[in-house]
Amino acid sequence: MIDKINDLIQKVEAFKSQAVPEIEEFRIRILGKKGELNALLEEFKTVAPEAKRELGQKINQLKTLATEKIATLKKMAEEQSETAAQTIGDMTRPGSAETAGSRHPISLVRKQILSIFERMGYTVADGPEVEDDWHVFSALNFPPEHPARDMQDTFFIEKNPDVLLRTHTSSIQIRTMERQKPPIRVVCPGRVFRNEAISYRAHCIFHQVEGLYVDENVSFADLKQSILYFAKEMFGEQSKIRLRPSYFPFTEPSGEVDVSCNLCGGKGCNVCKGTGWLEIMGCGMVDPNVLEACGIDSKKYSGFAFGMGIERVAMLKYGVKDLRLYFENDVRFLHQFDAVL
Ligand code: PHE
Repeated sequence: MIDKINDLIQKVEAFKSQAVPEIEEFRIRILGKKGELNALLEEFKTVAPEAKRELGQKINQLKTLATEKIATLKKMAEEQSETAAQTIGDMTRPGSAETAGSRHPISLVRKQILSIFERMGYTVADGPEVEDDWHVFSALNFPPEHPARDMQDTFFIEKNPDVLLRTHTSSIQIRTMERQKPPIRVVCPGRVFRNEAISYRAHCIFHQVEGLYVDENVSFADLKQSILYFAKEMFGEQSKIRLRPSYFPFTEPSGEVDVSCNLCGGKGCNVCKGTGWLEIMGCGMVDPNVLEACGIDSKKYSGFAFGMGIERVAMLKYGVKDLRLYFENDVRFLHQFDAVL
């Protein structure tokens, strides 16, 4: 019997585990009701009285050893799983949602404008923001003394030869006509720069979409219908347009386009200042001088052009009252456009 006890003592001493269920299983096997210790105690009843003292001590030694060992192993295993839980965290906790970004209102409205004209057969053309005098002014029939060429309106990077920031995307139309023969149907989106004081209604950087259509027999009626179609697509089927005579060096005749105020339905409100109309763009028939400057025969071809500010269209469509909001990147403003596609 003494050998059995010694065997068990060795087994207990050798036992190692970090897993709580495994330790518990070991405890039941040794100290449980039907465990090895109780079996020994049963056997102990039958041993001769003179051997009881020594065997009893051994059994007690085994019992204390097993109890203490199991208790420390369990404690260690529990502590370890606790620190593991602290580093991994609560695996059952629901994750925090990713906040998705959204498109800037200027990008959204640019996309809307372009897609309306793309449906009408226009393609999108691009060009540089840093330009020369020819593409921004001279080819567009600006006389040499025109005030737009003044430093007060234009940001010059260098004078002589002129390197400047484009003041409108009409420069892209010149580049397109230099490259491509009619028929031409392009829309030109882009950033433009003008030396203006920043206020709620003006900014030194803003965005335009300009358009150009050159082919044989392009008439003013085509221009009017194209713009009416655009206004209905952009501001709703009930929209009306009107044209007021205007002046641009590169178009003749020229006009300003007003669209019926979609906030008051044309009755007059504070957005349209009681007139029922909102100005959205400039337009006109391309001046023959511009066609000729780009090597296009103005006897054979005619064309129309138009240009609008994206900020202005977005302002009218979404009731934005201060231009500066587009540039401040305040998420409280930007999130209001989350649902716009
Ligand atoms: N380029 C003009 C502007 O920047 C807009 C325009 C384009 C007007 C084409 C008429 C025709 O204000």
